[in-house]
Amino acid sequence: MPSIALTIQAAPAAACTPELAKQPWSFDTVPGYGPGSSMGDVIPAGAPRQGGLPAEYQRATTEELHERIRAAKAALGDRVVILGHFYQRDEIVQHADFLGDSFQLANAAQTVPNAETIVFCGVHFMAETADILAQQHQRVILPNLAAGCSMADMADSDSVEECWEQLEALYGTEPDAEGRAPIIPVTYMNSSAALKAFCGRHGGIVCTSSNAETVLEWAFERGQRVLFFPDQHLGRNTAKKMGVPLERMPMWNPRGPLGGNTAEQLLDARVVLWHGFCSVHKRFTVEQVERARAEHPGVRVIVHPECPMAVVDAADEAGSTDYIRRAVAAATEPTTFAIGTEVNMVNRLAAEFPQHEIFCLDPVVCPCSTMYRIHPGYLAWVLEGLVNGETHNVIEVPDAVAADARVALERMLASRPAGSVPAPAAPHGA
Ligand code: 13P
Ligand code: SF4
Repeated sequence: MPSIALTIQAAPAAACTPELAKQPWSFDTVPGYGPGSSMGDVIPAGAPRQGGLPAEYQRATTEELHERIRAAKAALGDRVVILGHFYQRDEIVQHADFLGDSFQLANAAQTVPNAETIVFCGVHFMAETADILAQQHQRVILPNLAAGCSMADMADSDSVEECWEQLEALYGTEPDAEGRAPIIPVTYMNSSAALKAFCGRHGGIVCTSSNAETVLEWAFERGQRVLFFPDQHLGRNTAKKMGVPLERMPMWNPRGPLGGNTAEQLLDARVVLWHGFCSVHKRFTVEQVERARAEHPGVRVIVHPECPMAVVDAADEAGSTDYIRRAVAAATEPTTFAIGTEVNMVNRLAAEFPQHEIFCLDPVVCPCSTMYRIHPGYLAWVLEGLVNGETHNVIEVPDAVAADARVALERMLASRPAGSVPAPAAPHGA
C-alpha cells in the first residue's frame, strides 16, 4: 500500500487542504511551496525546483522504499550520515542518524568528519548551513530541492542590503563612546547563506530559536541596536522577554521608504524587526489557547517562539522544538500538553509519550509545506544514487559566501547555551 502523505493525529482533525492526500512528487513540476501551511505564500522566482522523481520511486510501496533505504544505508556504511529535523514525517525520522532542532543539527553536521556525504532531511537553509560548517571533503544533499522555507524567502539579499544602506545613512557608521556600533545585523538561522554572509561581513551573527536571547545579549554588548531578520515574531518575543519595550521595536517593511517608519522611530529603536513570519506558526491563535484551557483544565500550553506575541503571552511556555521535546520528556506526572508547533512533531510526541495527553493547539492538520516535500521516495533515490556513484541534489554554497557566513555562524556557535548537544535519532524502529 502506498503511504498516505501525512500521519493524522488520533483526535478528529481536518486537513488544511485535500492536496495533502497526494504524494509530494505530484508537485515536483508545479511552481509554489506545495500543499500545507505556506501554500498561499509567494515563492520567489528562481527558487530551486526539484524536477521529476524517477517513476520507480513514485510507484514503490512504502515498505519497498524502507527496504531500499535500509539496504542503501548498509551498503554506504559510515560514508553517509542522515540528519533529520523534528518536523520531518515519521517515515523519514526512522532512518535519521541524528534527530534535532536546527541548532543541534548544525552542530551534528560538524561531529561526523568521517562521513563523506551528509543527507539533510530538513529544509534548504539547514542544508546550506551544514555545507558551510562541513569539512572540505564532505558534501551535503537535500533529498528534495523544493524543500525551501517560505519565511527564509521573505528576506532577500537585495532588500536587506537596501535596508542596511538606509539605516547606515540614518545612524552613521561610527561607534558610540562605549565602542558600540550603531546597529548589528542578526539573522535567524532560517535565512539564506547570502544573508548569513551579510551578517558575517557587517559584524553580525546568526541565531536559532534555542539561543536567540544569548545571541541578542551578544549583539547588545556590541551595538546600540539590532536589525533582526527575517522572523518578526522570534525577534519581538525574544526582545520583549529581555525587557525591550514594544514601541522600541519598529517593523521594517521593504516596500516603503525607511521601511514604513519615521526617522525618529528608527533613531529610538533597540530592535528593527523585519516583516517576515512563519506560515505554520502564524496559524496559532489566542482563541485556541483559551479553548484548550476551557476544555482541558490544568493543560500545559507550550508554543514555539515563531508564534505571534499574543499567543506566546497566552501560553505557559515558549521554546524551540528541542525545548518543547525536553519539556514533555521531563514531565514526571501524567500531563495534558497543548503544543503550538508543526503537527508532525506534535503527533510524534503524542506517540512517544503515551502517559501524557498531547495534542496540537491547531485542530486543523496543516503541516509545513516544505518539510512535507521530503518523502522516503526522494531519500531512497538519493541514497541509491550514491551507491551507484551518482550524486543528486548537492547543496553547494559558493566559497566566498560560505567564508563570510561561517564567520557569523561561528560567532553563534561560540555563544551556545549550556546543555544543547546533538541528540541521537529517536528509535522509530526501522
Ligand atoms: P527550531 O530551530 O526550533 O528547530 O525551528 C526551526 C524551524 O524551522 C521552526 O519553524
Ligand atoms: Fe520555515 Fe515555518 Fe517550515 Fe520552519 S515551519 S521550515 S520556519 S515555513
